[in-house]
This record gives sequence, structure tokens and C-alpha cells, in this order.
Amino acid sequence: MEKVVSGIRSTGNLHLGNYYGALKNFVKMQHEHECYFFIADYHSLTTYPNPSDLHGNIRQVLSEYLASGIDPDAATLYIQSDIPEVTELYLLLNMNAYVGELSKTASFKEKVRKQEENVNAGLLTYPVLMAADIIIHHATKVPVGKDQEQHLEMTRKFSRRFNKMYKTEYFPEPEPYNFGEELIKIPGLDGSGKMGKTEGNGIYLSDEPKEIKKKVMRAVTDSGPTEQNQEMAEPIKNIFTLMEVVSEQETVDFFREQYNTCKIRYGDMKKQLAQDIIDFTDPLREKIKEIYADDEYLRKVVKQGQEKARESASKTIKEVREIIGFKPF
Ligand code: TRP
Repeated sequence: MEKVVSGIRSTGNLHLGNYYGALKNFVKMQHEHECYFFIADYHSLTTYPNPSDLHGNIRQVLSEYLASGIDPDAATLYIQSDIPEVTELYLLLNMNAYVGELSKTASFKEKVRKQEENVNAGLLTYPVLMAADIIIHHATKVPVGKDQEQHLEMTRKFSRRFNKMYKTEYFPEPEPYNFGEELIKIPGLDGSGKMGKTEGNGIYLSDEPKEIKKKVMRAVTDSGPTEQNQEMAEPIKNIFTLMEVVSEQETVDFFREQYNTCKIRYGDMKKQLAQDIIDFTDPLREKIKEIYADDEYLRKVVKQGQEKARESASKTIKEVREIIGFKPF
């Protein structure tokens, strides 16, 4: 049994990429490992220092996790800002993180380019906060996408450095959790690249059917194959990939055959894809709405998560303070 930690920034609705790339696996994992899933609301402040609806966004992500099948009795599901111990560990780890290495982080350099009007210190120390999130529970595994690999590497470095500095084996060096073959990359429908919030090409779990139809019908295609078994261009591959995920195998086989024999009508394929996405998201969307409106249930879940997470976190902080040499008078 591993200890697993995963955070998600609270910047609003989740899309199909979040669901198939992570959430679906989390639902399985929560019964196999000791899992800590949390909403990284502090992290969201580095990019949106003044979010228009911080609470609403947190509530939305929380409702979507629950509706998707995260079980608060199996996993520890909590909100980062409910755990003050995380900020204390973050402060302590900051003493041990170098400005030079932080400013060389790929994600930091990208933000410097993208939001030059707001290069705040929180952005610089983003990997330190993430390390605190992870090692506060002594996580051994972290499910990460490509874009987070460097952050996890830095987490290992901070753990190692702490251990060396205080001559201890206290913190483990967490490894990436590999979903193996189950890992599916969900592409966007704009021709290339993956589905993402910043890319603006997402189909969201909470999208209304009309919206889903509109998005799918707008998906980039080409002028169609002219030879039998012609190699597919990337935008077409992407539509098939999405179909593989949401549709019946028969449906995919049918359109593949149509493509291979140059009979494909992309309009028909998109209509089918949109319908299959709607069939999948419909019940989920209803459930999300129901949970979102249930104050009492959400309050209970958040309290339970906070209690469980703080139990683990406060133990760590107590031990870290001892290791560093703080003593009561
Ligand atoms: N940085 C992660 C992301 O943007 C979110 C995150 C914050 C996280 N803390 C974490 C992920 C700890 C895993 C573990 O996706």
C-alpha cells in the first residue's frame, strides 16, 4: 500500500481530460492505497490573485470529485487552505530552497513570459508549496502529468536536502505514480495538443448538451481520405481517440471502417460522438448540481476531510519542529 497525494488547482470546472486522465483512476486507486486528494486553492492564487469566485470554484471542483465517485470515507478529500500545517511546512521548506533553482523551473519561466505584470513570489515558490502538500503526508507516490514532473523532481530534492541537513531519513522521496496502460491522454478538438483549460478547448463535465454539440461539431477535420487505409491527420486521430474513450467499441470500429474505405462523413461521426459524450455526462451533470446545492453534505465532507488531513499533517509538523530543534520553554 502506497501513500498517494494529488492536488488540483481550484480554477473551476473539470473537463473530460481531467476525468479520464486522472479522476477515473483516482476512483479506483482510493480503494487500493491510502489516498489524499485535495483542492489546491492556495496554488490557484498564484495565477489568479483575485479570483472572481474562489469559494464557488472550490465548491464546484469538490462537487465534481464527489459526483465522479471519490468516496470521502475511502480517501481523504480536503481543501488545502483548511490545513494550516501545510503553510508552516511551506515556510520551513522555503529556508531550504534556492532562488536560483526556483527561478530556473520551467513552469516559473513560462509564467514570467505569460503574466509578466504579475510575477509574484508565490509563483517562484510554487514548487515548494507543492512539495509541502506532498511530504506533509509522507507520500510515496504522486500521480502527475508531464507538466508536473519537474515539480515532483524538486519535491524529491527538497526531501533529500532536508534529510541531509538534519541527518535523518525523515522524508521519503516520492515517485510518480504510473497508471501504466490505463493512462489516456485526452486531446482537444482544435486540431492538436491535449484538452486543457488554458487552451480553451475543453468539454466540461458540467456543459449542457447544447454546448457539447456545438463544441464537437466545430472540431477541426480535413477534407477526408482519398485512398484506402490512408494515414490519419492529427485532428482526425484526435476525434477517434475521444471516441475510443466515450463510445462503444462497435461505434469506433464502424467509423474506422468508414474512414478506411473513404466513405466517412465527419458530420455523422461528430454527431455520434457528441451524443455519446452527452450520454456519459448527463447523469454526472445532474449529480454535480445536486451535490453543489447540498450545503449540509458538503459541510460534512469538508469537515471530515479536514480532520483526517490535519491528523496526518499535525503529526508531521510536530516531528519536523523537533528535528529542526524548536523546543518548548
Ligand atoms: N501543481 C499541480 C497542478 O497544477 C497541482 C498540485 C498542487 C499538486 N499541489 C500538488 C499535484 C501536490 C500533486 C501533488 O496540476
